[in-house]
Amino acid sequence: MTPFKRIEGKLHVEPQNFIAYRDGQLYMDGVSLAEIATQMGTPCYVYSRDRALANFWRLQGAFPSAEIHYSLKANANLALIGALAQAGAGMDAVSGGEIFRAVRAGVDPSRIVFAGVGKTISDLAYALDTGIGWFNVESASELARLVEMARNKGKRPRVALRINPDVQADTHHYIATGHARAKFGISLSEAQLLLNEYISSPDIDLSGLHIHIGSQLGTVQRTVEGVQAILPLIDAYPEQLLTLNLGGGFPVSYTGEPVPAADAFATALHRCLAGRSLRLLLEPGRYIVADAGVLLVSVEYVKPAPDGVIVVVDGGMTELIRPALYGAIHNVLPVREARTATRATSHVVGPICESADVLRADIALPPLQVGELLAVLHAGAYGAVMGSTYNARPRPPEILIEGEHWRMVRRRETWDDLIRLEVQ
Ligand SMILES: Cc1ncc(COP(=O)(O)O)c(C=O)c1O
Repeated sequence: MTPFKRIEGKLHVEPQNFIAYRDGQLYMDGVSLAEIATQMGTPCYVYSRDRALANFWRLQGAFPSAEIHYSLKANANLALIGALAQAGAGMDAVSGGEIFRAVRAGVDPSRIVFAGVGKTISDLAYALDTGIGWFNVESASELARLVEMARNKGKRPRVALRINPDVQADTHHYIATGHARAKFGISLSEAQLLLNEYISSPDIDLSGLHIHIGSQLGTVQRTVEGVQAILPLIDAYPEQLLTLNLGGGFPVSYTGEPVPAADAFATALHRCLAGRSLRLLLEPGRYIVADAGVLLVSVEYVKPAPDGVIVVVDGGMTELIRPALYGAIHNVLPVREARTATRATSHVVGPICESADVLRADIALPPLQVGELLAVLHAGAYGAVMGSTYNARPRPPEILIEGEHWRMVRRRETWDDLIRLEVQ
């Protein structure tokens, strides 16, 4: 891996137009995307290390005293995690597997927080043995399980209770997590009881609260309301509850739509927390990697549609499920810059046998030839990690651009990979 220090100074400067046309070809940082596609084939994920780091630094700038734990669920590629860890990020994991990945990437276990509603005994045992920094506990029964396991192992883990503040986040209902009917977190009243019972426990160091009301948050206000709801709990234990984990959820603009900036969250939250000297933790995922990744696909066929054309490409919901799952809208750019002003209403669809397999509907694209490359933008978060092998489709390779250079950081799966674990 390229040492971070060599480029450290540069990364404090926002890279402008890190995805742009040069001489008629789309570039990411210093690299032609067509060159990558020629060598690696399509579909193919490409990430900009420098853009991910710039996003990290921008968020750190908005919250200078916060400890940022990058949320691995957004993109857990080892090389990307390693670069973020070298820049100073801790990690937010939601499974034993994600903790394993973080450790393999060289992350100090004490910089790992472990969240999730369904932590298994084996995951908890692994996390305790690894010596991770924080357990974000989501239920009374999980707390009881952790206390017993910690006692048996002679460990005293640091615990934050994840509170469900009953706030409806302004986002897609699949990724709203802070309302009372959501499966996440502990209600305020139950948290009060647990704090009374465990705050002086010899078996755990219960010293924080955690809140995460959703992802791709459309407003700052709901987050403020969530934090305000839990402040009475914090204020009841000023000597013990010294850490507040504010979760992730910082939004990105996928197609130019307005979203609140990280600074807006920071300003509102600092105002809300004024007068308290809390150690702050953040768990951003999407904000760090979404716009740092593109999915490259090739046009296989173009056929007429009632309102334009259907562009069938070689990647789809198996590579990027967000449009099918959430109705997410991603911008799509031809890798070769259009030479004419002609545009057709195009529906970019994948080859998978599901009508939901539409990468982007209703987009004005220039006339496209078979074999032409398209870049699906903002595919760095919740892209490759949510990929599947449905329809016996090997998962695509992942490429990391490091300035002027690029390298493969995950190879393309093969048909043999797909049947490797099966027994006939
Ligand atoms: C507990 C927790 N923390 C952090 C995140 C990361 O969210 P985002 O990618 O929106 O920053 C999630 C994702 O939903 C989460 O559930």
